[in-house]
Amino acid sequence: MKIKKENLKKVKIKDILKPKTVHENEKKLALMQVLNLSMPEILLNKEKILTNKEQKKYRKLEKQINKELPIQYILKESYFYNKKFIVNKNVLIPRPETELLVEETNKLIKDKFSDKKINILDIGTGSGIIAITLNILNKNSNVIATDISKKALKIAKKNQKIHKTKVKFIKTNLYNKIDEKFDVIISNPPYIPNNSKNIELKVKNNEPQIALYGGKDGLYYYRQIIKDLKTITKENHIIAFEIGENEEQEIEKLLKNNFPKDKIIIKKDFNDFNRYIFSISQIDNNKII
Ligand SMILES: C[S@@+](CC[C@H](N)C(=O)[O-])C[C@H]1O[C@@H](n2cnc3c(N)ncnc32)[C@H](O)[C@@H]1O
Repeated sequence: MKIKKENLKKVKIKDILKPKTVHENEKKLALMQVLNLSMPEILLNKEKILTNKEQKKYRKLEKQINKELPIQYILKESYFYNKKFIVNKNVLIPRPETELLVEETNKLIKDKFSDKKINILDIGTGSGIIAITLNILNKNSNVIATDISKKALKIAKKNQKIHKTKVKFIKTNLYNKIDEKFDVIISNPPYIPNNSKNIELKVKNNEPQIALYGGKDGLYYYRQIIKDLKTITKENHIIAFEIGENEEQEIEKLLKNNFPKDKIIIKKDFNDFNRYIFSISQIDNNKII
């Protein structure tokens, strides 16, 4: 039913953000987008009356919020490393854990390669957040990013336009048909075991299956990626993975078998889970990293 102009009640910000309102955070984010205000501005202007146009826009978003859709898919945007990225249901929603993967990898890059020209490969790029952010942080980098999903790559390319980076996006299975060699290989592959009971309903019901599940034990993609990784890795290298809970021992073994001279570093996320594994060649100036 079309809402007639005269039927719209005067609505203030404070009517929407009533005390104990459900989905309070999501509603604040929706208001930020509709009113083009920052969070402090929303909170400081609770008496502001929404125009009819703003009200209609907001109610449309609110309907989707009440259906329990992730707010990032509703607003079609998400933040990663302090930058705005476009997202839709074809890409994984960027996670704060992955910001830490980029942060740690970037520290290792600066330590090992300073500002030298380097080749970086991001496997399973999704919305492109890792590849684009590393390209921004390393002006001298030549970044290639792959994904098997054409629809995900469409979003990654839109993000690349927004951030004016120069990543080369390639649709392929992992790194098939890539014949360059890389200084840095990074990946946040799908790593949730297929029958996992630990997955949130909102994630399970909304995010792309192809971005979530990593086979029976969650390790399928690490096995596939690591087995021939040597063929595209330079002798002096950094390999960086985000990993699932309790997956570190098996992945360490895989890396040790294929890169026996590397130093392996495992790092924790904000929740104290071993979330990152790095395999670093030890051929340069014997630095302990
Ligand atoms: C966990 S998501 C990570 C996305 C993004 N890198 C991030 O960190 O938000 C994994 C990505 O791997 C992609 N993927 C799944 N199977 C793949 C394959 N065989 N080859 C390349 N990419 C694949 C999915 O489409 C998805 O975008």
